[in-house]
Amino acid sequence: MGIKNYKIITFGCQMNLADSGALAAVLDSRGYTPVESLDEADLVIINTCSVRQKAEERVFGRLGELRPFKNGTGKKIAVVGCMAQRLGDRILERAPHVDYILGTDRMFDLPEILDDRPGIPRINTEFGHEGLGEILPARDSKYSAFVTISRGCDNYCSYCIVPYVRGRERSLKRGKIIDQARAFAAEGVLEITLLGQNVNSYRDDGHDFAALMKDLALQTDIARIRFMTSHPKDLSERLIEVMASEPRIMPHLHLPLQSGSDIILERMGRLYTLEHYLGLVEKLRAAIPDLSLTTDLIVGFPGETEADFEKTLEAVRLIKYDSAFMFRYSIREGTAAAKFIDDVPEPEKIARLMKLIDTQKEISYARNQAEIGAVRQTLVDGRSRRNQMILKGKTEKNITVLMAGEPTHIGTIRPVKITSADSWTLHGEFQG
Ligand code: SAH
Ligand code: SF4
Ligand code: F3S
Repeated sequence: MGIKNYKIITFGCQMNLADSGALAAVLDSRGYTPVESLDEADLVIINTCSVRQKAEERVFGRLGELRPFKNGTGKKIAVVGCMAQRLGDRILERAPHVDYILGTDRMFDLPEILDDRPGIPRINTEFGHEGLGEILPARDSKYSAFVTISRGCDNYCSYCIVPYVRGRERSLKRGKIIDQARAFAAEGVLEITLLGQNVNSYRDDGHDFAALMKDLALQTDIARIRFMTSHPKDLSERLIEVMASEPRIMPHLHLPLQSGSDIILERMGRLYTLEHYLGLVEKLRAAIPDLSLTTDLIVGFPGETEADFEKTLEAVRLIKYDSAFMFRYSIREGTAAAKFIDDVPEPEKIARLMKLIDTQKEISYARNQAEIGAVRQTLVDGRSRRNQMILKGKTEKNITVLMAGEPTHIGTIRPVKITSADSWTLHGEFQG
């Protein structure tokens, strides 16, 4: 059976969404057709995440569900991305019905493999891919797009699998990034999000991330520029200045703290102290008064005492993040922390996580309540999933807002007065 129609299922972070988009663009350019339903698909591609055990279990669960999909029909299943990179052919032990296993860089070879060219392995986890910047990724939304500016990570935080599954850090040439942004702008995209595991260590011939942001603001017409993620040890004063002075760079920073305890930060290999982090927050908020600050936090890292955890809670209460992603520590085989004793009992990890989530939820609620009455420039990008009569958009701070309006408002940026709020969403009315 010839393969014509494909479906990509994506797990994991925005990097993976961007990679799935790039892979879709490669497949489309070779004449394959994306389809919504499994029934129509000849090939299912699962783009996977390895960051925590639970993420991997979810993928194995999905693979199990896909057993009947093949049913002797000649349909194919490809597992690509971080888990493919980490486990390679070990995936076949639990899911022998998988046909192709391609790592984070090798997934883009899929068309050659489907062509049945000789000498191209069906299981391949080598690193290195040239020319990725030539590919204009397909995108989910008509008005927002991702631009991957660097791949890989060199930081080796002691708990983290990403450097092992994504390889060494490589930055894309700035000319390529500007070309991609311009191409998106020409297609009507209003907002781009620059992606890298640590955008602050971006380098191209002495050009750093702050210089790249300045170039993008000056040399493209994209209405909104966002980026993630920033590592606190590399966030420069220059970047703060550029963010403060370029209105098209959105006032949102994702700055993972991970822990509020210096002892834990040290063992995580994060290379900053809470004091350094608080200093950054102070400078950022002084320079960009309406800044939205978000973060990632881990509870139950090996050796985390009740007192260490309290320091994280205190930091969260003090900093008052707009929102946070919060996780239970999960051992990743092969990382430095895997050699530490995972000594916080699971029920204790769960209790700490619940407490942290409750604390942050109250703060998010209060911060969203404070938006009531404000008029916020909103990128209207579609209809609410729950109610087709209601439009949805994103404020400059990247908070979802719902409002009644005309379909012609979709694809525009316009002022919305915020009238009510809960922890995650705002409601508002168009102002003219
Ligand atoms: N490069 C980004 C994010 C990487 S993964 C950064 O440095 O911020 C996203 C988040 O997952 C991390 O910020 C961390 O909070 C969490 N994470 C990573 N490894 C983890 C592990 N082993 N257990 C629990 N959470 C983890
Ligand atoms: Fe992982 Fe640290 Fe790299 Fe982020 S900076 S991807 S947490 S190793
Ligand atoms: Fe992202 Fe998960 Fe890979 S967080 S980089 S998809 S391990």
